[in-house]
Amino acid sequence: MKRILCFCLLLCGIAAFAQNPNMPTDFLSKEWHKERRQKLREKLPANSVAVFFANAVRNRSNDVDYVYHQDPDFMYLTGYREANAVLLIFKDKQKGINSNLYDEIIFVQPRNAIMEMWTGRRLGNLGTKEQLGFEQAFNNTDFKDYNIDFSSFDQILFLDFHNDVRDDARDKGDLYDLIEQFKTKVNYPRKDALSVQREQPQNNLNTKALIEMMNDLRGIKTKEEIELLRKAVTISCIGQVEVMKAMKPGMSEREVQGIHEFVFKKYQAEDLGYPSIVGGGHNGCILHYIDNYKPALSSKELILMDLGAEYHGYTADITRTIPVSGKFSPEQKQIYDLVLAAQEEAMKICKPGTPFSDLYSATAKVINKGLKELNIIENETDRHLYYPHGCCHHIGLAVHDRGNYDVLQENMAITIEPGIYIQENTTKDPKWWGIAVRIEDDYLITKNGCEHLSSYAPRTTEAIEAMMKQPSPLDKFILPDLEKTLPKN
Ligand code: GLY
Ligand code: MN
Ligand code: MN
Repeated sequence: MKRILCFCLLLCGIAAFAQNPNMPTDFLSKEWHKERRQKLREKLPANSVAVFFANAVRNRSNDVDYVYHQDPDFMYLTGYREANAVLLIFKDKQKGINSNLYDEIIFVQPRNAIMEMWTGRRLGNLGTKEQLGFEQAFNNTDFKDYNIDFSSFDQILFLDFHNDVRDDARDKGDLYDLIEQFKTKVNYPRKDALSVQREQPQNNLNTKALIEMMNDLRGIKTKEEIELLRKAVTISCIGQVEVMKAMKPGMSEREVQGIHEFVFKKYQAEDLGYPSIVGGGHNGCILHYIDNYKPALSSKELILMDLGAEYHGYTADITRTIPVSGKFSPEQKQIYDLVLAAQEEAMKICKPGTPFSDLYSATAKVINKGLKELNIIENETDRHLYYPHGCCHHIGLAVHDRGNYDVLQENMAITIEPGIYIQENTTKDPKWWGIAVRIEDDYLITKNGCEHLSSYAPRTTEAIEAMMKQPSPLDKFILPDLEKTLPKN
């Protein structure tokens, strides 16, 4: 018994030692990514290869790049978070140099002590084998001479190149080189020839089919993905709640953005799923308002806050619209309740089998009827711009995630986000001007209905007003006056 106990303690010790203290422990596992590759392989046509490239590094200025973000398809299939890599997934086993058989291969950026000192650790090919579970992982500089006879495949599937990618002349294995080498290997038509090629494929290149396959895969979430989505969504809800408590007239849009984003970071969300939209008053009418410059919010205004924490790649997409004063005016409440009723109407039919388009129709019907009753439009069938966007989309590794948009299916994760935006001079009665309301929630489609993932963030006017009466820890977070604190010259 004692011996067994000692053995168990030893195992625990080894496990604890093996855990990397620099990294979180809840990333998707290498087995999960491997299984996703296998699921894609099963969808591939006979005698084909699917090729995926990592996202490009984008330059911000001089020697500073934007924070790197992996391409979601690449992330989904590999878990590799670095740049300058290419992945090949074969339908059938291929014969390697030593007659070994393989059906997937990845080329990644090599270890480089100097570069790693400046820009961070790299997995390298060995780390990719160990930590990401690839049997065949090579340095990207080996791709050029790696012997793959692309002409032997009936189809080479890849997503067409839409982005400009810079060439780092010092790096012969960077993404620019990998794409160029790939284009040469597969006889990719250059420039003018490409438009002809798109219409009449003359060889084995297929730039269309992978989109459908990845939509099918990524549109249905696994339980592991749902766990990460739940975290991203709950963190984002907590951000909304803390802002409701902290909100005061005179705050700036940027400060409000900062409170949300501080909460995201506090809970280890490494990124935003999209630039944060924080619009006071009329700014809320700009659907993707990301300037967030307004220095002082007025007590008469609503503030529309559309933000999503990205947790290990998975993003929430949640909007709350609240009164800066803590109390909705009668007009604000009328518009708010109309948007809420529209959302609830869509929620009623949010279940497997419902066409996506029905969700939109359900929201539009309520909004048009309500706008007519409020005399904002003359007839329910009038064309107008008060509700100018769709209501629903998939969320996941992208805020507008891959997925099919025909009918809802179990384990899809979607948003429902109706809104009404009343710009100046668009209604006869100015009492409506500057009222902009969007309510956006995240849902998981279940076997018989849906689970409201973002219910932690209050949604009714009563619940929002009650939350806004709660004290905030930020009430005591008083910073020095900047002007008085500037160094004197
Ligand atoms: N935050 C972008 C959207 O709601 O779709
Ligand atoms: Mn959305
Ligand atoms: Mn949104």
